[in-house]
Amino acid sequence: MPTLNKFLENKTILVCGGCGFMGSNFIRFILDNFKKTKIINLDLLTYAGNKDNLKEINLKNYSFIRGDINNTKLVAGLMKKADLAVNFAAETHVDKSIHGGAPDFVRTNILGVQSLLEALRQSPKILKFIQISTDEVWGDLSLNSKIKFTEKSAFKPNSPYAASKAAGDLLVRSYFRTYGLPMIVSHSVNNFGPRQFPEKLIPFFALRAMQNKPLPLYGDGKNVRDWLYVDDHSSAILTLFQKAKTGEVYAISRSEEYSNLEIADRILKILDKSNNLITFVKDRPGHDRRYSVDSSKLRLLGWQPKFSFEKQLKKTISWYKENLQWFNNVLKKSSEINKHIKI
Ligand SMILES: NC(=O)c1ccc[n+]([C@@H]2O[C@H](COP(=O)([O-])OP(=O)(O)OC[C@H]3O[C@@H](n4cnc5c(N)ncnc54)[C@H](O)[C@@H]3O)[C@@H](O)[C@H]2O)c1
Repeated sequence: MPTLNKFLENKTILVCGGCGFMGSNFIRFILDNFKKTKIINLDLLTYAGNKDNLKEINLKNYSFIRGDINNTKLVAGLMKKADLAVNFAAETHVDKSIHGGAPDFVRTNILGVQSLLEALRQSPKILKFIQISTDEVWGDLSLNSKIKFTEKSAFKPNSPYAASKAAGDLLVRSYFRTYGLPMIVSHSVNNFGPRQFPEKLIPFFALRAMQNKPLPLYGDGKNVRDWLYVDDHSSAILTLFQKAKTGEVYAISRSEEYSNLEIADRILKILDKSNNLITFVKDRPGHDRRYSVDSSKLRLLGWQPKFSFEKQLKKTISWYKENLQWFNNVLKKSSEINKHIKI
C-alpha cells in the first residue's frame, strides 16, 4: 500500500460543507500537511458556514464554490474534476431540529445526500466518497450500560437531526448495494476544537463564561458524551480514504466520556470563573442520555487518536479567548444562535 503522502499526491478532493467546523478543519489539515493535494470546497454558506474559518489558508491548491449539495448538476460537474469526495455538509444542531427546523434537516441531510449520490453515479472518476455521519443515529445508552455502540448497532435515532442523518446513511447503503458506488459512511462521536459554531456545547459555554453569563445545563447535567479532538477526526477521514473498504461503515471515537456538567466545570476552571454560573434548566425533549462508541474496526486500519482531551480542551478554550473577534463576527452574522438555544 502506498504511503498517505503518495496516495494523496496529485489528487483533488471535493469537500462538501468545507466552511463549517469539521469541514474547515479537514481542509486546513490537508493544505498544511499535503502540498500536492488540491481541494475544491462546495458550501452553501448557511448560518453555520463561515468563510473566516479558512481565512489564513494557502490559496494555491484551493478553490471555493458557493452552492447547494441539492444541485446535482453542479455537484456532478465538480466531481468530474475530483478523485475523492467527502460530505460534511449538513444541518447539525439538534435543538434547531427540535424547535421548528426539521424541514431544513430533511432537505439537506436526506434530499441533499440523495442528490450527491445521483451525482456520484455520473462520476466514474471518483475513487471514494465518504459520507460523514454521527453516533447519534444509534440512539442512546443508559449511564451504567456496559455496552458500547459499534458499526453493527441498530439505528434508533431520537431527534429529527439524528433521524435525518440515519436516513441519509441508509440511502448511501442502498446506492452501494444497487449501483456498487465506492462509498463509505463514518460515524463520529462529538468533536471539539477551534472554530466550532457557538450553538454547540463547548464554544457556547466558553462564550457565556467569558461574558459572566449563566451556563444553562439541560436536566441534571449528567448526560454523557464521548469526545474527540477535531484534528483526530480529520486524520481518521484520511485513513478511511487510504485504507477503508468501500461499502463499509466505520465508527470514530477516542472513548473518552464526560458528562455535560463535567465539561461546564472544566471550562469554568480553565477560565477561572465561579461554578455559580452553572444553571440547571428544563431538559431537552428526547435528550439522549449517553453515547459511548467502540472504534476498534477503524483502529485495525492503523488509525489512533493523537490528542488528549485535557490538553486540547485548554488549548481550545484559549483559542476562543484569543479570538473574540471570530465570535463577534459569527454573532453579528447570525440570528440563529438566539433562535435555537433555549435558555
Ligand atoms: N460537530 C460534531 O460534533 C459532529 C459529530 C459527529 C458527526 N458530525 C457530522 O459532521 C458533519 C460536519 O459537522 P459540523 O459540526 O462541522 O457542521 P457545521 O454546522 O459546523 O457545518 C455545516 C456546513 O455545511 C454547510 N451546508 C449546510 N447545508 C448545505 C447545503 N445544502 N449545501 C452545501 N453546504 C451546506 C454549511 O454552510 C456549513 O458550512 C455533519 O454531517 C455532522 O452531522 C458532527
